[in-house]
Amino acid sequence: MRSLSLLIISILAIGLAGCKATPPAKFETKSVVFAKHHIFVGNRKQKNPLPDTVQTRADGKEAFTHYCVACHGMDGQNTGVPFVDHLSPPVPSLASPDVQQYTDGQLKWVLDNGIWPSGMPGSKGTLSDDELWSIVVFLRHLPPAGSQGTPDMYNH
Ligand code: HEC
Repeated sequence: MRSLSLLIISILAIGLAGCKATPPAKFETKSVVFAKHHIFVGNRKQKNPLPDTVQTRADGKEAFTHYCVACHGMDGQNTGVPFVDHLSPPVPSLASPDVQQYTDGQLKWVLDNGIWPSGMPGSKGTLSDDELWSIVVFLRHLPPAGSQGTPDMYNH
């Protein structure tokens, strides 16, 4: 009897250890992303009033260079940003599927309001609506990772 209960306990223990080994972080991350995309981040339906033209992309790139590059790099993919591995939550690649799945309206909302409580600041009032919408267009056409060099502020 005693050895049977020991056996059961060890099976339970192995089972629990097994559960620990499968990363719960993955599920948690997925549900945070899901919640952000479906609940917190509003403005799903708003359309970008700017046309997707070469000019708008250039305007967006220019506006992005003002200060987004400090955390996201020239390419929106963190190239050359020194502290990128030390932030929690980490700075995502803006080319990643999680970011690209946002609608244009949601991206505008993220830029207006920022993401609390991470380091992502809101830009409403700092950049104009046109600048922010042009950045949304730029985000859809990010240059290849590493192709734009390091932001000026980190070139010493
Ligand atoms: C001080 C550093 C910093 C600056 C400046 C900054 N960001 Fe971010 N950004 C972050 C961090 C950190 C995150 C991750 C937020 C999260 O997932 O909680 C982020 C996330 C994002 C996201 C994805 C949001 C999501 O829910 O996945 C977009 C899009 C974005 N930033 C665009 C921009 C743009 C455009 C600018 C300039 C107008 C900018 N950021 C300026 C730090 C910054």
